[in-house]
Amino acid sequence: VKGGYPTFMDKEIHDQPKAVADTLLGRTDEQGNLQLDELRIDEAILRRIDKIIVVACGTAAYAGHVAKYAVEHWVRIPVEVELAHEFRYRDPVVNEKTLVVAISQSGETMDTIMAVRHAREQGSKVLAVVNTYGSTIARESDAVLYTHAGPEVAVASTKAFLAQITATYLLGLYLSQLRGTKYLDEVAGYLTELARLPEKIEQVLAREEEVRDIARSMRDVTSVLFLGRHVGYPVALEGALKLKELAYIHAEGFAAGELKHGPIALIDTGQPVIIVVPTPRRPTLHAKVVSNIQEVRARGAHTIVIAEEGDTDVEPYADVIIRIPATPTLMTPLVAVVPLQIFACELATAKGLDVDQPRNLAKSVTVE
Ligand code: F6R
Repeated sequence: VKGGYPTFMDKEIHDQPKAVADTLLGRTDEQGNLQLDELRIDEAILRRIDKIIVVACGTAAYAGHVAKYAVEHWVRIPVEVELAHEFRYRDPVVNEKTLVVAISQSGETMDTIMAVRHAREQGSKVLAVVNTYGSTIARESDAVLYTHAGPEVAVASTKAFLAQITATYLLGLYLSQLRGTKYLDEVAGYLTELARLPEKIEQVLAREEEVRDIARSMRDVTSVLFLGRHVGYPVALEGALKLKELAYIHAEGFAAGELKHGPIALIDTGQPVIIVVPTPRRPTLHAKVVSNIQEVRARGAHTIVIAEEGDTDVEPYADVIIRIPATPTLMTPLVAVVPLQIFACELATAKGLDVDQPRNLAKSVTVE
């Protein structure tokens, strides 16, 4: 069942190229146009919506956070991302012009189910991005866009996260095609980029041992900070969550630009900081993050830098560099998160912990 891997988590990390490829599969017509037949929400309604609210919890919420960057850019309507349990018990502004997107691997997360019910009571259409066929969220929503990650057994989510980003990107491209905010050849260009991701994820997996060596060398750390900017920010949050839940190490993710507004006070000699660096082909974003690495390094941080192949600007300030293949900015979360998953998995293994069944956690949280 574990496909020759020592744990489900190891297997599921390695399933990721396929999870992305399968989620893309069969979603274009012969002309290469996106075809999301399953959407079953009237096109007229999808043309009219003026806001998207993503509701989800944990890792699924971070996938929504990533999607916000892409969907707003492509569709030009505001996307809010809200933790389902917070959405439910305030008085959110939702109506028939709001599309609520509920992201859930299990489809059984009670917090997200309650948010779905609340949104539908307010007259919103709810689209579920779910991995488990026939689950409660799938059944209770107006339409379902399935992620085809396959069963995820390890409690901590890995391949579902990549499939969720892929599916919400398809949704964004579909809406931009439908609403005419992107030309068809631009949509096709993004689809081509997405189709290249499985191969790029394989390239990251091929360097797994380097990441595991780094993790083993850090098995005694008590706190790790993660920094990212733009789509790298939710990747940093996800990296921190993986480390907390798998290795029981205090970890926090920050938006890199927020450092100077407080968190930089945490930096002391030897503090490990993992930084997700944007592609150098986005020079403004890139330069800012490089200067953040410099700032934490100058205050004694031990810097572990996730940077694109050929990015030499980071070298003077990096204690360790983990290389990822060159990827367009919006697609980088799908490659940059993989070393963070491996890192957390190996650190937990090195500490002798059960990576598939971390303490105090359940695979699906069926209570509010
Ligand atoms: C983290 C993790 C959780 C889930 C969250 C939502 O590794 O697994 O944070 O992502 O409980 O679960 P689903 O996606 O099933 O609604």
